[in-house]
Amino acid sequence: MKRRSAIDLFLGGSLIATVAAFLYPVVRYLLPPKRPIISQDTVVAAKTGELAPNSAKVFRFGTAPGILVNTPDGKLVALSAVCTHLTCTVRFEAETETLYCPCHNGRFDLGGNVLSGPPPRPLETFAVAVSGPDIVVSRRR
Ligand code: FES
Repeated sequence: MKRRSAIDLFLGGSLIATVAAFLYPVVRYLLPPKRPIISQDTVVAAKTGELAPNSAKVFRFGTAPGILVNTPDGKLVALSAVCTHLTCTVRFEAETETLYCPCHNGRFDLGGNVLSGPPPRPLETFAVAVSGPDIVVSRRR
């Protein structure tokens, strides 16, 4: 009887270990990795004079991209570069002075408003200030 119990215990333990060995990688694959959330409210997006009129620069704002646009009349505008449809990165199109998302032809004006395409919401806009040689972009509160 003791021998049979030992064999049952061994087989049961082996079965549990085998199932765990199969499930562990599946669970690890399905769960998102733990990343530190980098929250940033202010960033130096560019140096003054770096952007020619009617051009733009994509900059890093925390973990997401932002886009700084120097309009043809020299006004600086900063927005989130993350499309509100499926999070592709938008780019500035100088000919039309709009922001264009190449993934599904989404288009935004420089105020972040949706002009065409599938994006459901406007882009987040940021405050822009010139501080000495730096162009500083901040989240609006
Ligand atoms: S991700 Fe931008 S339009 Fe679809």
